[in-house]
Amino acid sequence: MAPDTVTMDKIVSLCKRRGFVFPSSEIYGGLGSSYDYGHYGVLLKTNVKSRWWEAMLQERDDIVALDSAIIQHPRTWQASGHLSGFTDPMVDCRTCKLRFRADHIEQGHCGRKPSRKPGETSDCNLTEARDFNLMFETTVGPVREDGSTVYLRPETAQGIFLNFKNYLQTSRKKPPFGIAQIGKSFRNEITPGNFVFRMREFEQMEMEFFVPPAEAERWLEHWTEQRMNWYTELGIRPDHLKLRPHERDELSHYSSATSDIEYLFPIGWSELEGIANRGDFDLRAHAEHSGQKLEYVDTASGERYVPHVIEPAAGADRALLAFLIDAYDEDEIDGEKRTVLRLHPRLAPVKVAVLPLVRKDGQPELAAEIHRALRGSVQSEYDEGGAIGRRYRRQDEIGTPWAVTVDHQSLEDRTVTLRDRDSLAQERIAIDALGEEIGRRLRAPWRSPKLND
Ligand code: GAP
Repeated sequence: MAPDTVTMDKIVSLCKRRGFVFPSSEIYGGLGSSYDYGHYGVLLKTNVKSRWWEAMLQERDDIVALDSAIIQHPRTWQASGHLSGFTDPMVDCRTCKLRFRADHIEQGHCGRKPSRKPGETSDCNLTEARDFNLMFETTVGPVREDGSTVYLRPETAQGIFLNFKNYLQTSRKKPPFGIAQIGKSFRNEITPGNFVFRMREFEQMEMEFFVPPAEAERWLEHWTEQRMNWYTELGIRPDHLKLRPHERDELSHYSSATSDIEYLFPIGWSELEGIANRGDFDLRAHAEHSGQKLEYVDTASGERYVPHVIEPAAGADRALLAFLIDAYDEDEIDGEKRTVLRLHPRLAPVKVAVLPLVRKDGQPELAAEIHRALRGSVQSEYDEGGAIGRRYRRQDEIGTPWAVTVDHQSLEDRTVTLRDRDSLAQERIAIDALGEEIGRRLRAPWRSPKLND
C-alpha cells in the first residue's frame, strides 16, 4: 500500500481554505463538532447523495423513496428500544471536569496541560461509568407538560418502519422490496470529533429492504457486496476498504448479524457504513406498540408473514470525508508543489472550469459563451482572475477534472484546449464537440490515479 501524504489536519485546512466546510457558529467561538457546508461542500455532498439515490432508485426497480419527519410520535422510540437502550457509558473526571465515553477511554484526552489519557495519572479522578441516552429531547407546543416531550430522530430508519403499511398499500411492491431515505439524524454524542466523522447533527443514507424470512441471509450478502462496490466504483481504493463482521457482543439490540464497511481514515480503520440483518424486530415492535398489523399478506396464496429487514446504513458526511481523504494528493509540476483532489469526476463539485488565457482580445467573451453552453448539462465555473497557472491550481485543489482554456487560436478556428487534472494532458478540441466529449468522459469507468503510485 502506497504511503499516504494525507492527514486529518490537511483535509480540515483545505476544506476551510477552499470553502468546503466551516466550523459552525465561528463568530461566536464555534459550537464543538458542529459544521457548516460551504459552496463546494454542498456540491460535493449533493453528488454523494445523488450517486446513492441512483444506486438505490434509478438502477433498480425494487426500491422506493421516502422523506419522513424528523420529529415522530414519542412512542416510536419506546418501540424501537432507543428510549431504554440507545445509551453510551459515560465517565466524568472530577479533576478536569471533562466527560468521556467509557468504551473509548483510550482515545480520550483530558483538558489539562500537558493533556493525558483519562485515568492515566493519580490526579485523574474518574467517576463510575453510567449510561447516557444519546437522544436530543425537546417539547411540542407552547407548554411543557406531560406527553409533550419528543425527540429528534437518532436514525432515519424508524420513519421507514412507521410507513411500511402505507407503502404496502400504495407502492404496488411486495417483498423483496426496499424503502430508501436520506435525512438528518441527531445524537448527543459524548465525544464527537475528528471533523465531520462524528458530529451531533449529521446526515444518514439508509435503506430498509423487506424480505421473506427465509431469504434474509442471501439478501444480507447481496447488500454487503453492492455497498462495497458502490465505494470502489466511485474511486475509493480497495486496499483502503474492508469488511468487518461484528462480534456477538457488539451487535445492536435489534441485529442478528451486522458487518461494518471500514475505511482506513487517518485516525485508523473506522466504520463508514453498517449493513445489518434487523430480522423482524422493528415491524413486530411497532405492531405491538401501535396495535396495527404490520405484515405482508399474499392475496393469491393467503400466505402471511412479518418480513425480515436487511439494512445498509451509511453516513453522507462520513462518506464525503472518506472520498476527500482518498482523493487528496500532493505532487509537483515544474518544481512547484501542487495539492490536488483526485475525486471521481461524477463526485467532483465542479466538472469543468472555463478559463480565458488572457483578459482581452475577445477571449473572456468566448469563454463566457462556452461556460453558458456547458452549464446547461454540467456544473461549470468561469474564472478569468489571475495567472492561468494559479487558476489551474485552484481548480485542482477543489477537484475539477477538466479545464477548458480559450486562447488566441480559439478566436481563429473555434478550438480550445481541454486539460486533464490527473494526467495534465492538454488536447485541442472543437468548441462544438466539448459538450459531448465531457459527457462521454463523465460516463466512462474511472480508476483512481493514486492506484498507479
Ligand atoms: N439505522 C442504523 C444506524 O443508524 P449506525 O451505525 O448507528 O446505524 C449508520 O449509523 C451510519 O451513520 C454510520 O455508519 C455512520 O456513517 C453514520 N453516523 C453515525 N453516527 C454518526 C455521527 N455521530 N456523525 C456522523 N456520522 C454518523
